[in-house]
Formats: sequence, structure tokens, C-alpha cells
Amino acid sequence: MQISFVAPAKVTSGAWVVGALAGSALLPAAVAADKASGGALTRALKSSRFTGKNGQMLELAAPAGVAASRILLVGLGKVGELDEKGLETLGAQIAGRLLTSGDTMGSIEIDAWKGGQVKRAEIAAHLAFGARLKSYRFDLYRTKKEDDDSKFTSLRILTADMAAAKKAYAGLDAVADGIFLARDLVNEPPNILHPAEFARRARTRLSKLGVKVEILGEAAMKKLGFGALLGVGQGSARESQLVVMQWNGSKKSGKPIAFVGKGVCFDSGGLSLKPGSGMMGMKGDMAGAAAVTGTMMALATRKAKVNAVGIIGLVENMPGGDAIRPDDVLKSLSGQTIEVLNTDAEGRLVLADALTYTQRRFAPKFIVDLATLTGAIVQTLGFEHAGVFSNNDQLVQRLQSAGRYTGERVWQLPLDPFYDKMIRSKIADMKNIGGGNSGAITAAQFLKRFIEKDTPWAHLDIAGVAWQDGEQKPTIPSWGTGWGVRMLNRLVIEHYEG
Ligand code: BES
Ligand code: MN
Ligand code: ZN
Repeated sequence: MQISFVAPAKVTSGAWVVGALAGSALLPAAVAADKASGGALTRALKSSRFTGKNGQMLELAAPAGVAASRILLVGLGKVGELDEKGLETLGAQIAGRLLTSGDTMGSIEIDAWKGGQVKRAEIAAHLAFGARLKSYRFDLYRTKKEDDDSKFTSLRILTADMAAAKKAYAGLDAVADGIFLARDLVNEPPNILHPAEFARRARTRLSKLGVKVEILGEAAMKKLGFGALLGVGQGSARESQLVVMQWNGSKKSGKPIAFVGKGVCFDSGGLSLKPGSGMMGMKGDMAGAAAVTGTMMALATRKAKVNAVGIIGLVENMPGGDAIRPDDVLKSLSGQTIEVLNTDAEGRLVLADALTYTQRRFAPKFIVDLATLTGAIVQTLGFEHAGVFSNNDQLVQRLQSAGRYTGERVWQLPLDPFYDKMIRSKIADMKNIGGGNSGAITAAQFLKRFIEKDTPWAHLDIAGVAWQDGEQKPTIPSWGTGWGVRMLNRLVIEHYEG
């Protein structure tokens, strides 16, 4: 779907999208459409349930006297109630209608629209962003076209502020690129997207944007002492990988910010095998790594003035003959030893070494890690919030603020020495399961043991938000959500640029 911002003009083909406020108060473009159609819109309103409530729609097909193929009246709600997130949702809802309409193009008139704090150019940009997010599809493995495939190719936003709108949209378009990459990676099946393939894609997609991408294979990691990460991968025929992505967009040198991702390309549970029903969807266990890769793409595409590193640990957790056993002890890169009592608690092992490596090599300003780490977080928070655990309140507040703005929200859960006790091992420095309740917290306590010298750190457990099996959100028309790209990009904008 092409998106363009053009000066207001008469709509002579395709869908003509106009707005009304709560109370069916038609905005000027809607009044014009009504007039041109000889009052058809007001007549249709009388026999409809449309009241102008946010998100409502009323459609008139082939109205007489109008060159446009249809008039789509959209409810905007009360004046000034639309914020950025609301505009994105609305853009997605409009796009949803147009994509399935049979039309090939549509034009939205927005000049009389008012967002509360949102300027007109931003209204256009966020509306367009929502529309683009809705246009995402993952069709790679369908060999037959469906007959009701969308014909819709071109969305025009009519605004006198077209230059400013275009500029405001450029940054969001970059974020959409990053989200789409993250969604693609999560949606790909695990026979295709194994660790080396993920690493290759990160390299090809990011290096042309100016991101420096390094890939460490098993030999390199073995030499360095990645005992925990390599332990997880050793039951798989696929080679484990560590990918280091550096974006240096700031002229100032100094410590970079760091994002670390769990990239378990498939999580069978290993010898502590998952039941069949629990294994489905475990191709998405690399969603943390996907979010990090997508965020790096967004930052580089919009040339963010920040120095950021993205580090992802890519493995496949399989029960092969060489697999780690429950009872094995692994030596991590940090030097700490781990008694593995359940091979299905593998994400923390991968992250442990990735976190150590990140700190020792980059001494970052902060680290945010993202991981589909525990089923327990899904039990706790469901699908609306990711869990956040942190040693730094300011970082938590910043993540919460970015989450509120973008709709990718986080909810803080505690860390406490009491929970740390639950991962004491009889024979090693720690064990990899808490064994009992508060599973998301003991997992976070485990990670905390790999944070050195009070590096500000936040762990996001995204197991409940990385993919969606039930109802789709308007801006997320796919199983893989791409969760994290929007909020991390926003975190950078709000605090770490310029
Ligand atoms: N990848 C899973 C967590 C998960 C579960 C993500 C469901 C998304 C949906 C993780 O590796 C895992 O298996 N965790 C175990 C830990 C347990 C063995 C301590 C879990 O949550 O059951
Ligand atoms: Mn697991
Ligand atoms: Zn896992």
C-alpha cells in the first residue's frame, strides 16, 4: 500500500473518506460529500446507528452525483480526544475497510480533524502509520492467491500541511519497517528461520542501512567461554549464533545504550520436553531477538542520533543426543556456574551469556533485555502488558512512559532477595529454576545475577505480547506482533537523542 500526502482537491475516483464528530456532526468535507450526493449521506445517517462515536463507519457505495466510488464516513468521537495511539487505531480501522472494499485507492480528508495535543501534520502522520501497520501481511507460504485478495494499493491523505506531514511520517515509516521485519521473523517457520538464517537476515537487512553487524559462531563463542548459551544449543543440529549490531548515529562518543534479545528459534523444551500443545507456537520464542533487530532497523532507517547496540543470542532448544541433561552443570561466560534442572528454562541461559558479553564489551549506559521468558508472566499479566523487572526506577518510568504513548505497555513486578534465595543450588552457584511459584520473578532474579556493577538494567518478559492467537488488534493483523519496536524507538526519542 502506497501512502502519500497531497493537497486537498476534489476526489474524483476511489473511496472518499470524510469525518464526523460525536453527535453526527459532519465536518466540512463530509458536508461537501453530502451536498454533492444530493443529501444521500444525511438520509443514510437517519436510517443508521452511526452517531460519530470514535471508530464508527458508515459507507455509501456509488452515490449519485459523486465521481468517487464510495463515501466512507468515519466517526472521530469528541473534539480533541484523539491522541497519537487513537489516531493510529483509527488509521488502521479505515485501512481495514478500504483493503477489503474492492477499491484500489482512497483519499482521507483530515484538515478539519482535531487531536487534543496533536498537531495537524502529526495527525496525518499517525493516521498513515496506523494504516500502514494494518497493511502488513505474511503470505510467503501460500501458493494460491485467495480470490478476495485486496486490490487496494494507494492511500492518499489530503492535507494542506503535506510537506510537514510527509516529514513527520518519515520517522514513523521507519518504525513500521522495523515492526514488519520483527513480525516477519516471528512468523517465519522454524525449519526456515534457524539461528544461522536469522543471523544472515539481520546482516543483509541491517548492514545496508549502515549498521555494523558481526556474527559469532560456535567456535568463536566456545573460545570466549559462552558455556550457558552453547549448552542450550548443543542438542540441536543447527549452529548457535550471537549477533552484534551497532548503530552509531550520534556524533558524540560515549557509552551506547544496549538492547539484548532472547532468540530461541524453536523451543521444544529440550530433554525436559514440552507436551505437544505447549510446543505449538514455539517458533516465536525468538521474539525478543526479533524486537531488538527490528528496533535497530527503525533507528538506522530514520538515522536516529543515538549510539545503540543490539545483541541477540540465537539457538535452537532441541533434545538431540548431545543435548544438555537435567542435572548438568554449565559454566557461564561470567564464570558463575549453573545447575540445569529443567532444560526448558533455557532462555535465561542464553540471556546470561549475552548480558555478560554486552556489559564487558560495551559498558553500556543501560541494558534493556526482551525475552519470551516464562509462561508464568502470561498467567500473571495476560496479553495487555509485558512484565518489567529492573534495578533502576528511572529506567522503569521511562519504559512505562514510552509504553503509554505507543500502547505497548509494561507493568512492573518485584525483585527481592527473598526470590533470589529460590534459585540457590545444592552444588553450583545457582540453579535454572525456582521450582514452584512466582516463576516470572525467579527467572528475572536469575538474570539479575548476571548484571555487573549496577549497570542500569530492565528485563521485559514479553511471553504474553509477542504473538496473538485470539482477537487481532487493529494495528496488528498478524500472529507475530512485532511488540517492542515501537516502545523502544519511543524510549530513544524521549530520552536518548540529541
Ligand atoms: N519459551 C518458554 C516460555 C513461554 C511459554 C513463552 C509460553 C510463551 C508462551 C520458556 O523457555 C519456558 O519454557 N519457560 C518455562 C520455565 C519453567 C521450566 C521454569 C515455563 O514458563 O514453563
Ligand atoms: Mn523453554
Ligand atoms: Zn523458551
